[in-house]
Amino acid sequence: MEKQKIRKLIVQMTLEEKAGLCSGLDFWHTKGVERLGIPSEMVSDGPHGLRKQEDAADHLGMNDSIKAVCFPAGCATASSFNRDMVTKLGETLGEECQAENLSTILGPAMNIKRSPLCGRNFEYYSEDPLVSTEIAGALVHGVQSKNVGTSPKHFAANNQEYHRLTSSSEVDERTLREIYLASFEGMVKKEKPWTIMNSYNKLNGTYLCENKELLTDILRDEWGFDGYVMTDWGAMNERVESLKAGCNLEMPSSQGITDLEIVEAVQNGTLEEAVLDKRCEELLNIIFRYEENRDREAVFDREKDHEIARSMEEESIVLLKNECSVLPLNSDQKVAFIGKYAKAPRYQGGGSSHVNSSKVESALDAVRFAANVNAENVAYAQGFDDAEDKTDVALEAEAIEAAKNADVAVIFAGLPDNFEFEGYDRKHMRMPDCQNHLIEAVAAVQPNTVVVLHNGSPVEMPWIEKVKAVVETYLGGQAVGGAVVNVLYGNVNPSGHLAETFPLRLQDTPCYLTFGGENDRSVYAEGVFVGYRYYTSKEMEVLFPFGHGLSYTTFAYSNLCVSKESIKESQSLTVTVDVTNTGSMAGKEVVQLYVAPKGGRIIRPVRELKGFDKIALNPGEKKTVTFTLDRRAFAYWNTDIHDWCVESGEYEIQIGLNAQEMVLTQSVHVDSELTLPKVFTKNSTLGEIMADPKGMAIFGQMMAQGGEQQEQSEAAEEAISQDMVAAMMEGMPLRQLLSFAPGFTKEAMNQLLAALNQ
Ligand code: BGC
Repeated sequence: MEKQKIRKLIVQMTLEEKAGLCSGLDFWHTKGVERLGIPSEMVSDGPHGLRKQEDAADHLGMNDSIKAVCFPAGCATASSFNRDMVTKLGETLGEECQAENLSTILGPAMNIKRSPLCGRNFEYYSEDPLVSTEIAGALVHGVQSKNVGTSPKHFAANNQEYHRLTSSSEVDERTLREIYLASFEGMVKKEKPWTIMNSYNKLNGTYLCENKELLTDILRDEWGFDGYVMTDWGAMNERVESLKAGCNLEMPSSQGITDLEIVEAVQNGTLEEAVLDKRCEELLNIIFRYEENRDREAVFDREKDHEIARSMEEESIVLLKNECSVLPLNSDQKVAFIGKYAKAPRYQGGGSSHVNSSKVESALDAVRFAANVNAENVAYAQGFDDAEDKTDVALEAEAIEAAKNADVAVIFAGLPDNFEFEGYDRKHMRMPDCQNHLIEAVAAVQPNTVVVLHNGSPVEMPWIEKVKAVVETYLGGQAVGGAVVNVLYGNVNPSGHLAETFPLRLQDTPCYLTFGGENDRSVYAEGVFVGYRYYTSKEMEVLFPFGHGLSYTTFAYSNLCVSKESIKESQSLTVTVDVTNTGSMAGKEVVQLYVAPKGGRIIRPVRELKGFDKIALNPGEKKTVTFTLDRRAFAYWNTDIHDWCVESGEYEIQIGLNAQEMVLTQSVHVDSELTLPKVFTKNSTLGEIMADPKGMAIFGQMMAQGGEQQEQSEAAEEAISQDMVAAMMEGMPLRQLLSFAPGFTKEAMNQLLAALNQ
């Protein structure tokens, strides 16, 4: 609806109606104003399937919702690294929403995986902001192309479940910008989500619903967001303050209680009515956008969408290990499917994203229908139960027997539901002991043991050296069984790559010492060193690095070219690299481009992902992949100027198989075009002064004279070299020369400072 019309509507609304519009009607609906033709609209979780609740409502997925299709969770979709595929998923969700008359899907969930312990990591995409923002952007693009809104969540720095409604995430400015906000930034700027959901937590002491800096200064003014902000369910703290800060909609309804606070605030002058009008206008823009673009023909075709769920998962499964090419299996082999999850897969997480699945396809079901599999060659033994973590001796003995009688044992293992759930964090990174025990026992009798994992976040693998292959399905959605069988038997060549690091053990993780925080303060002490940024900078061994993923074919990289050897920061750089499929099977590769600053004064991760692309190649085929890098690929957040800043110097463009294995590199010099404001004082160090071209010119001469004098007086002091003197002087404040440089007067110092600061 045109702006003028919306403004006219607002003029006709009473104060009470305006206050009411900015709070829910009930659990899932926005409030309408019938007499003015303002509709009430329904929203629904999200993010990987609809959770439309027609009767009893709740935000933890406990009551029933309509039958819907459960797609792979965020942990899996991100591993696809395939923007087009994720957009297709978005389009499918959008169509389903139109068919069900849902104006907005509450997702994508896109918080950064700060620790593998966060209970909701299964919904989130990555430890890397580029992957997160690009994959979320692809989903938003798809959903909104069907004229349905999205609500990317939870904005922002909501990286733990522990005390999520009261805890304050204490994040320094640079870390916030480079990691936690960057996860949202690209998606917002490129895709303009219709809404955003603010998170439960506080950020540096201020609840997100009241955080003007984030909701208005950054989100709207800097990034150009033009939709409305809604609270997470029950995240509202002070409604009047939140309206001022830029939050439009309280969800769910607070039964009119907080509407009264707004009416009173306007009446007693603590809230300008114009602010309320603005929030209403931002909200109505979106309400009418959906209403005017209804697709009444849309159908929710659960069978068709089940197939899409399967292809999404096929694209996402990560082959972590495949020794002696034990995979793919062939149909003549006698195979033992072992483990409860072969028959009853764990394919989704618990909480608000829980979908009432239209059907579930297990690996055992799928193996009966798979084109190239002889189902008679597949035996099954349950092996373990997941109701409690206890070895069932009889089930385990049966599994060992089945493994002995087979050529290959495939164990379907993973995390039970109660090990990762919305609302609380994991306590450790281990799988149930009974499953670890079973894997060891089977591997002891069957050299060809394959483990298929069903989990929403990394696990420790104490048995890794004893098994031949590991297949990571993550939480693969209701069609996971079909997808796994297709990968196991080679109907699909796996092409997923990890969007997060699998550390060797919990103690290795960057925020091991502080995760969860104390006294409701969670200090992000590791700064920008999150995920692979930490492990690579510390050169640590990990179980599987970020970006890792194997294939049944092989790829070769060659001919890495940069368009220029030296650029100014305002110029973009084109990077091309050739990739060839050197194996005998068609496959897909995720091409990863990292930028590694060489030298410089800023403390930075050893490398950061700045581009990725997924390409399909037939055997023998070669493709050239092109990346365009702009200044952001080289920039860090400078807290003096509160902006992105490029440091002049050398950078390496690296093509990696994952965050740890670089296969090709090229150097490029980047020149900053920004002169950082610099004020020299008597506390500026000699190093700082010498690093400045003007400082170098004025001061260099003085130093040379001083140096000569020192050479004479210290000629006998063989123990202290000139390098050592230079290193000590680098950090010496100018004022110290008054004591240590004979003849250097206060007047000379002031003259020098005046000249430097001119
Ligand atoms: C979750 C949100 C969800 C909402 C509605 C909250 O508990 O944090 O992600 O969209 O409930 O179910």
